[in-house]
Amino acid sequence: MIRSIVLRFALGLGLGAALAGAPAKAEGPATKESFLRPLTVPMPKDEPFSPQLATLGKMLFFDPRLSGNENMNCVTCHNPSFGFETPVPRAVGALGKPINRHAPTVLNVAWVPHFFWDGRSPSLEEQASHPITEPDEMGGHIGAIVERLYMVEDYQRWFDKLFPDAGLSGPTIVKALAAYQRTIVSGWAPFDRWAEGDDYAISQDAKAGFELFTGKAGCANCHSGWNFTDNQFHDIGLYSDDIGRGAVEPENPRARYAFKTPSLRNISYRAPYMHDGLMADLDVVIDHFANGGIQRPSLSPLMHPVDLNDNERRQLIAFLHSLTAEKTKTAMPILPN
Ligand code: HEC
Ligand code: HEC
Repeated sequence: MIRSIVLRFALGLGLGAALAGAPAKAEGPATKESFLRPLTVPMPKDEPFSPQLATLGKMLFFDPRLSGNENMNCVTCHNPSFGFETPVPRAVGALGKPINRHAPTVLNVAWVPHFFWDGRSPSLEEQASHPITEPDEMGGHIGAIVERLYMVEDYQRWFDKLFPDAGLSGPTIVKALAAYQRTIVSGWAPFDRWAEGDDYAISQDAKAGFELFTGKAGCANCHSGWNFTDNQFHDIGLYSDDIGRGAVEPENPRARYAFKTPSLRNISYRAPYMHDGLMADLDVVIDHFANGGIQRPSLSPLMHPVDLNDNERRQLIAFLHSLTAEKTKTAMPILPN
């Protein structure tokens, strides 16, 4: 039994690495050290960053004047109180109907290499223009929004100071939004204190859950590194009409129904789960992974049924909760008139 699990685990690792084009991983379960937090935030060399620019970006993130009808902001769907998500399966956008996917978190996006559930957007700057102009999200027109913000003297002055050449424009608005979002980093969680050496920071159950996560349950094959994601796309066998990554890579049979592995940071605040928001809580998520998902040609080779008794399920969930930092208040920016 144990041997077959080890074999499947090793097989899974090999196939996954080949699929992802990543270097082969070391054998054996990941250690807690492989999940240690980095101390700096990676910033792209060709994009501007300053605290002032991030502050300006934060104002824009909270400003409903970025939406067509001035009634919705980025926070409508990426709410700090809910781990920068929305506590409903699919948020209602400017057209008054639910949009087609669940809002993912914008926590730790500085470490994310491609955006949206299907990874179709290559940068945070490129990404930010989409929600502003999508008719079913904020339903705005960049030209009209630039004009509207231009009437706000403080915005005009800030943009002129930070971008002496371009001033307030579509491209500088998205640069500011991206700069702010790179500062949205999840706080120290009990797990981090444990990984850094405090043996008492998490419960015995959470420690046993970590062993399952990195061992028999195979979760760390995809939820790896400090942000608990390999940033790759996998079909985990959910019933869905949405082909996800398949639309971006139509020639790749494994891309069908594949979605980007989400971070598990602050997971306790981020229900409901998955790209369609159809899993209400972590019990349902564990049931899904234990069952191994529906069999189809695109199903990830890393997915297979796992025997988990009630106690082990409880331990895995205790571990997942240990990835959640204490709730902090996000101060509301004061918006200029
Ligand atoms: C009406 C809800 C809604 C609003 C408003 C909204 N978003 Fe989103 N956001 C979503 C959804 C849904 C997705 C995922 C869409 C997909 O994958 O196809 C998303 C995805 C993202 C992502 C990608 C995260 C990742 O890891 O892939 C970022 C970043 C983001 N939004 C930032 C913003 C910014 C900045 C604003 C404001 C300008 C904004 N969003 C406004 C719903 C919204
Ligand atoms: C084959 C790769 C893979 C494996 C193995 C895997 N996951 Fe995932 N996980 C994903 C992907 C991809 C998603 C998003 C799928 C979607 O929305 O369609 C996901 C979603 C989740 C979510 C929801 C997160 C959110 O923001 O909605 C949780 C929680 C989760 N996984 C925990 C686990 C646990 C616990 C295990 C082990 C029992 C595990 N995963 C095993 C790839 C994997």
